[in-house]
Amino acid sequence: MAADQVNEERETPRHIGIIMDGNGRWAKSRGLPRMAGHRAGTKNIRRVLREAADLNIEVLTIYAFSTENWGRPQAEVSHLMRLISQSIRNELDDLDANGVQIRHSGRLAGVSKYLQKQIQGAVERTKNNNKIVLNVAFNYGGRAEIVDAISQIIAEGTKSDEVTEDLVSRHLYTAGLPDPDMIIRTGGEYRLSNFLTWQAAYAEYYATPTLWPDFDEEELRAAVAVFQGRDRRYGLVKDS
Ligand code: IPE
Ligand code: IPE
Ligand code: MG
Repeated sequence: MAADQVNEERETPRHIGIIMDGNGRWAKSRGLPRMAGHRAGTKNIRRVLREAADLNIEVLTIYAFSTENWGRPQAEVSHLMRLISQSIRNELDDLDANGVQIRHSGRLAGVSKYLQKQIQGAVERTKNNNKIVLNVAFNYGGRAEIVDAISQIIAEGTKSDEVTEDLVSRHLYTAGLPDPDMIIRTGGEYRLSNFLTWQAAYAEYYATPTLWPDFDEEELRAAVAVFQGRDRRYGLVKDS
């Protein structure tokens, strides 16, 4: 079996997180405005989601907009907000028909009331679907998520000796989802950029120079093949 091929007999990741980076550079390399890159990047989600479902991945978390991305030029931020709104409008029927369960990880506060309603509507409508979970990290920050969890835990009157890792996990936006087994970053950088800070503690990390709009089915399969070759020790000593 070639090293870059998925081995159907070996375990595939249950949950993959993707840092979809490189839209701007993709556009720039074609002499296009950054917005064209975001449009192409948004379109690419469908083919990667389809392939992930074919590979029996249970959860795909995509990093769509970080709490830091608000600092980008206002025109770009507005464009990104419009894109997510349009995507929900155009894709929801199809996603629902294909059994995709949509989840949102991130803060709704700070997002327009209209978009908040759209997101909540998409989550509610698809909550019983079970082909694959598409968890959209939107207005998401790993640190903000931990702060929100702590704040909620305190508000619930939790005693200090009742705080456990499991309790924290259950107060994150991703409550109920398995931790990611693999984090993929496109666009060639080697950093987490505030993505799944808590949950990725033992995720396998995979970075590719491929820019997000070019990351296709084959690239996803190549990443899964690399995952299958990794030795996950979780701090233990391997049996000899
Ligand atoms: C990722 O692409 C999309 C978002 C952060 C919303 P970028 O917009 O960061 O693209 P580059 O990194 O500038 O190429
Ligand atoms: C991470 O990409 C955020 C998303 C993909 C949504 P960025 O382009 O914002 O991250 P940095 O600036 O390279 O760390
Ligand atoms: Mg970037």
